[in-house]
Amino acid sequence: MAAIEIHHVSKRYQNGTVALEDISFCIDGGVFGLLGHNGAGKTTLMKALTTILAPSAGTIRVCGFDTVKQGKEVRRRIGYLPQELAMYPSLTVFDFVNYMAGLKGIHDKNAVYAVLEQVEMLPFADRKIGRLSGGMRRRTGIAQALVGSPQVLVADEPTAGLDPEERVRFRSVLSRYAREGRTVLLSTHIVEDVYQLCGELAVLREGRLFYAGTSAALMERVAGKVKIVRLDGEDGLVALQKQTAVLSAAYEGHGISARIMDENMAFPQAEPAAATLEDAYVYCMGGKAYGQRLINPSV
Ligand SMILES: Nc1ncnc2c1ncn2[C@@H]1O[C@H](COP(=O)(O)OP(=O)(O)OP(=O)(O)O)[C@@H](O)[C@H]1O
Ligand SMILES: [Mg+2]
Repeated sequence: MAAIEIHHVSKRYQNGTVALEDISFCIDGGVFGLLGHNGAGKTTLMKALTTILAPSAGTIRVCGFDTVKQGKEVRRRIGYLPQELAMYPSLTVFDFVNYMAGLKGIHDKNAVYAVLEQVEMLPFADRKIGRLSGGMRRRTGIAQALVGSPQVLVADEPTAGLDPEERVRFRSVLSRYAREGRTVLLSTHIVEDVYQLCGELAVLREGRLFYAGTSAALMERVAGKVKIVRLDGEDGLVALQKQTAVLSAAYEGHGISARIMDENMAFPQAEPAAATLEDAYVYCMGGKAYGQRLINPSV
């Protein structure tokens, strides 16, 4: 039995929007990444997993329990960090986490101190939420999800907007938590987070499951085909985009350096590059992961 089993799940909202369409995959142990553009259905799937929403069709099992028929059992085993967690600015870190623990039926101050320690927030336990930095606030958010050591942790875009140092710290909290057979599901736009943390990932695209499997197998799809082309200017880039998929482009010196997919060996002069997960993701998403915007390091 896998920790999370998603079986033919669809979700249609009342206004008719189909946010998920016939999604099936399993997640078991370790950190699992959920990637997809805005509106792909990541939050909807996470809400269904955490029993906040009922699927319109299909079933989800968490630790063997049905999210609709056995919601209480599921909620006892799952911790959730929502994309937008309402926090009370006038509460202290301790009081907030203690309050959230109470909602889960956990009345144990030591359990609250233990999770604050896990996310390195113990020194700030008495600080008011309203006076925390964004990274500290996010760590407090994960602390409330970790109270009671749930078997499954679901975190919706936990690293969005964090500075690089906080992101590294956050990643280590998640990977530490995933040890000892626990499961962490993390949604993100940041492919680097998935690469660093997750052995396996799923990619949602407009409500459909586009990929589920290892990051290595996804990278395999572009391996040996990624090349670097140097161009004089933006006109060259526009022309190149008509010829092949441009994965990314950045100003470099006086010109532009573009990473391209060379599927038919049509660019023999181009320099071969080691494929990254980001390359594979952008390519799979139709070369539109970042709207093909040009990355200009000087701006
Ligand atoms: N309460 C709702 N009522 C109607 N439609 C909704 C509702 N919530 C989300 N949607 C729609 O469902 C689709 C999936 O939304 P969802 O929030 O799950 O995407 P997401 O992948 O989490 O996006 P993001 O990366 O922006 O967080 C979108 O088209 C969205 O507009
Ligand atoms: Mg979302």
